[in-house]
Amino acid sequence: MISIDDAETHFKRGGFTFDGYEWRLELPCSSRDSQPDWLEELSAMRGRIIYDQGHRPAFRQTDGRFADPDPVDALSFHVTARASGNLVGCARLLKCADAHTNWTESLLGARRLEHILNTLNSATGMAGESGRWIVAPEHRGRRVGRYLMAGVYATAHWLGLRTILGWSGTHERQDRAFMSMGWQPVDGFGTFPAPQFDDEVRLMYFDLTRVKRVQVELSNQMSQVLELSQPAGCLAAGV
Ligand SMILES: CC(C)(COP(=O)(O)OP(=O)(O)OC[C@H]1O[C@@H](n2cnc3c(N)ncnc32)[C@H](O)[C@@H]1OP(=O)(O)O)[C@@H](O)C(=O)NCCC(=O)NCCS
Repeated sequence: MISIDDAETHFKRGGFTFDGYEWRLELPCSSRDSQPDWLEELSAMRGRIIYDQGHRPAFRQTDGRFADPDPVDALSFHVTARASGNLVGCARLLKCADAHTNWTESLLGARRLEHILNTLNSATGMAGESGRWIVAPEHRGRRVGRYLMAGVYATAHWLGLRTILGWSGTHERQDRAFMSMGWQPVDGFGTFPAPQFDDEVRLMYFDLTRVKRVQVELSNQMSQVLELSQPAGCLAAGV
């Protein structure tokens, strides 16, 4: 399994144009002295999109700037897409073992989280949490979202994880989008209110040991695009 320090060593920095977009994997940056510029840019882009023309007012600051600052960002891996240099899409992956806390653990508690992972044939040390899967409205419906998530699967596989957990919105049927990519709801859970997003979210999981062929192909493509060396070989179809 790759640690954050190992990741710095193994990772040949990406930034490759593919299908008209530039794709990049940003590594956790919590140990650096200053915040990298891309983190502020990411927060502004997410804030603008989540704000959604006033639908979620908390994402606009009093000075008029958009922001979605989240301490979890500095601990996470981020797959990003750019068009003409501008950030237009993102998705992040947090290794549960590297997190001081993660949203899932803070909601459910460490023991319940471990129990859930055990029933999924996994454990905290083999799990990640994915979130903030966002594509700018003018770039939606062009598979940017699919490639971003395939980049997350490739990164998770590269890190040696078995399971990815994620909280999906339901009001705009995002849980359907997740299901179309092979995610499944965790049994025994209803939805949780997420007032900051004006949504109700559902706990879902993605099993990296049972990946559909189409996702395997996209993920392996993204691991090349992101230039991830593959310590455990390419992801292989499990179903
Ligand atoms: C969800 C989102 C990231 C998808 O980005 P995108 O670039 O349009 O996605 P793609 O074109 O790659 O499509 C991905 C798949 O999800 C499906 N999908 C996307 N949005 C959907 C929605 N609201 N409801 C149902 N399915 C959806 C697509 O149909 C596609 O599935 P298919 O290939 O089987 O048809 C984008 O709509 C977005 O940023 N939404 C707002 C933020 C958000 O809700 N993020 C999810 C966090 S829970």
